[in-house]
Amino acid sequence: MSAKEIAHIMKSRHSVRAFKDKKVPKLIIQEILEAASRAPSGSNTQPWKVYVVQGKIRDEIVNEVCKVYDDLLELPELKSQYQAAYDYYPQEWFSPYIERRRENGWGLYGLLGIEKKDREKMAAQHKRNFMLFDAPVGLFLTVDKRLGTGSKMDISMFIQNILLMAKAKGLDTCPQAAWNEYQSIVLLKIKAGSHEELLCTVALGYADETQVVNEFITPRVSLDDFSTWLGFEES
Ligand SMILES: Cc1cc2nc3c(=O)[nH]c(=O)nc-3n(C[C@H](O)[C@H](O)[C@H](O)COP(=O)(O)O)c2cc1C
Repeated sequence: MSAKEIAHIMKSRHSVRAFKDKKVPKLIIQEILEAASRAPSGSNTQPWKVYVVQGKIRDEIVNEVCKVYDDLLELPELKSQYQAAYDYYPQEWFSPYIERRRENGWGLYGLLGIEKKDREKMAAQHKRNFMLFDAPVGLFLTVDKRLGTGSKMDISMFIQNILLMAKAKGLDTCPQAAWNEYQSIVLLKIKAGSHEELLCTVALGYADETQVVNEFITPRVSLDDFSTWLGFEES
């Protein structure tokens, strides 16, 4: 495969938030995960662990978490019972990240015709996370909580490999941190070990190209803005 083809896969991957009701062959998922496991990891610890979930058990997890999500809309004081294992986001947002976050959120809602005052529509769209955006497969990635922060980096590389390999195989994905808050439900359903915590979820399936939500393509800051070059004035 040429550099151009690899760049094409990288650049055409984007988060998909509406999937077709179409099964993904087990063999394809196996190929994706096997290739993804060539990801580097500190001391080759390979700390990734992935639960590949489809069918009845997928539906049970989706239904259970959606039910709790609905209940918490009525009883927000119970939210503290559902805690993520780690802070994915800062407690307090600051520039320039807060602006990017807002641009992203309102960009997506804007495309869907959801305005600031539409609290119910916002909650309904957020709930789509817990339906895996209708993807037939959910990948629940856990990490052994006794490992260090670096293992989360290792697993992130594994996840990016999954996203790219899936794209190369004509599939689409959405990485999801939204599930982390409901890890207590997920971990129980997937029968995770007592040392495991939920790191991330990936919705996997075939994109429904007819859905406007999938037209959402995010911008990036320019190379000049995120890179600092030292010693290049000599070359
Ligand atoms: C670790 C991680 C967690 C994410 N969690 C969510 C999520 O819970 N729900 C969602 O809709 N998108 C989620 N995203 C997708 C991001 O919003 C998306 O990657 C970002 O806006 C850039 O867009 P792109 O993936 O389409 O290039 C997540 C992305 C990452 C990397």
